[in-house]
Amino acid sequence: MAYQNIISKKDNGITTITINRPNKLNALNKDTIQELHEAFDVANRDKGTKVIIVTGSGDKAFVAGADISEFAHFNAKQGMQLAAKGQELLFDFIENLSTPVIAAVNGFALGGGLELAMACHFRVASDNAKMGLPEVSLGVIPGYGGTQRLPQLIGKGRAMELIMTAGMIDANQALAYGLVNHVTPQEKLLALCEKIALKISRNSPVAITAAIKAINANYQDGVDGFKIEIEAFGKAFATQDFKEGTTAFLEKRKADFQGK
Ligand code: COA
Repeated sequence: MAYQNIISKKDNGITTITINRPNKLNALNKDTIQELHEAFDVANRDKGTKVIIVTGSGDKAFVAGADISEFAHFNAKQGMQLAAKGQELLFDFIENLSTPVIAAVNGFALGGGLELAMACHFRVASDNAKMGLPEVSLGVIPGYGGTQRLPQLIGKGRAMELIMTAGMIDANQALAYGLVNHVTPQEKLLALCEKIALKISRNSPVAITAAIKAINANYQDGVDGFKIEIEAFGKAFATQDFKEGTTAFLEKRKADFQGK
């Protein structure tokens, strides 16, 4: 598929989606969000894609936020629609994908950029990365899930401070907060993400999908995550991957899983 604002490439079971508007620091405009939705959807449906990595092009930014020029003139109703549509098409969509998604945060991840990284299943940052939710400096608040996912990831007090000050934290602070899992020199970022992705790829895709669903259940109102876990655990016993995984262990060989 031909995209204008992103690049999607598959290699070795890993689909890497690169947001490609470096002159605008990869800011998320409407078209980019739509294209990202399509690329994530295609990769998620693709049986050959075991892991998805999302990153930004250039050495400066992952994503410097939602495209401010696109919404500066919006009224209240349009603002609400912007947030609702974006959350549905991209942020909630990514969080609930059955394929693992890693954010390779290669520079500024601000506003919608940090919200995008937070919607991914986990994050790895380059040592030049800077993260923050500066929306209140523009007279608005995070609208792509930032007020919900940031406290989930770093705790309420830290999220309050980061959002209220509109400040930025560097990669090492983000690591200390648990916002990112690893920090690496920029030139090694994609290689590290790919190494982690390959490790993930060796495991049962069916079981990984079930684990994502059960972990996400912990953050859904009115959903009993323990119950979801018990059900998913039970269902796993009926899968080919469970037979293969346990048989391979007992036969002292590597499991050869079916794929998703
Ligand atoms: N929306 C639209 N355009 C953006 C953007 C955004 N969120 N972030 C950066 N850009 C554009 C700039 O307008 C500029 O475009 P131009 O060259 O056509 O003028 C280009 O990207 C480069 O950005 P610039 O500000 O010149 O780079 P810098 O190195 O001086 O500053 C930042 C980098 C990230 C500190 C600064 O771009 C910034 O504060 N961006 C907005 C961050 C933000 O508030 N995001 C939340 C939005 S809800």
